[in-house]
Amino acid sequence: MADSELDGLLAEQIAYYRTRAGEYDATYPLDTHADAGSRAQLLAAMERHAPYGRVLELACGTGQWTAELARHATTVTAVDAAPEALAICRRRVEGAAVHLVEADLFTWRPRERYDFVFFSAWLSHVPPQRFDDFWALVADCLTPDGRVFVIDELPAVATVEHPAPGQPAPAVRRELTTGQAFRAVKVLHSPDELRASLGALGWDTDIATVGWRFFHASLRRR
Ligand SMILES: C[S@@+](CC[C@H](N)C(=O)[O-])C[C@H]1O[C@@H](n2cnc3c(N)ncnc32)[C@H](O)[C@@H]1O
Repeated sequence: MADSELDGLLAEQIAYYRTRAGEYDATYPLDTHADAGSRAQLLAAMERHAPYGRVLELACGTGQWTAELARHATTVTAVDAAPEALAICRRRVEGAAVHLVEADLFTWRPRERYDFVFFSAWLSHVPPQRFDDFWALVADCLTPDGRVFVIDELPAVATVEHPAPGQPAPAVRRELTTGQAFRAVKVLHSPDELRASLGALGWDTDIATVGWRFFHASLRRR
């Protein structure tokens, strides 16, 4: 399929999160009662990996994790393509040393290096065609002994998603409370497959699962 079809899907993914921003916090699984325990476990794992120094968060959204990172970091730079989500994030981290950047992560380049790079619920939105370039970007963002911490969803999540067949990358159909529907990329990595793919790109990856839905991964460049 042509690159323009993939570009169209990625643009729709941004449009989806821009439109969803106002209802994101109420509809994100980690904020629902059923997954409150998962959030606590993911947060504890993130804190065990001791975010420190200059932190970069990719696809920060409404800032559910930005606020947690800011409690540990010297500074947080948080990047997202949705200005509506960034506006919510800005209110959430008011007074903290957080610098918000509106940018498309498929074209954004870092101006400095960071001690810690974090992203949650983002890796599964990176299409396979952009996977290697995305990880090259992550490497470019890191100091030589910097670390990465990733939170995302496990393949079992496919049972609660609505697949969108015939797309230029694995994708799902998401509906807002208004009934408006969008396509979004959704690549559900199994821990073994992800460890192997990242190993081939020069990363050492330590992955653990939380319940049926989530995994967290801690990475270093080899
Ligand atoms: C599932 S949300 C995750 C938000 C946040 N990390 C969290 O865990 O709550 C995905 C985020 O990716 C952002 N996003 C989608 N496409 C993007 C792109 N091309 N560049 C930057 N951000 C993008 C969306 O605006 C949205 O905030």
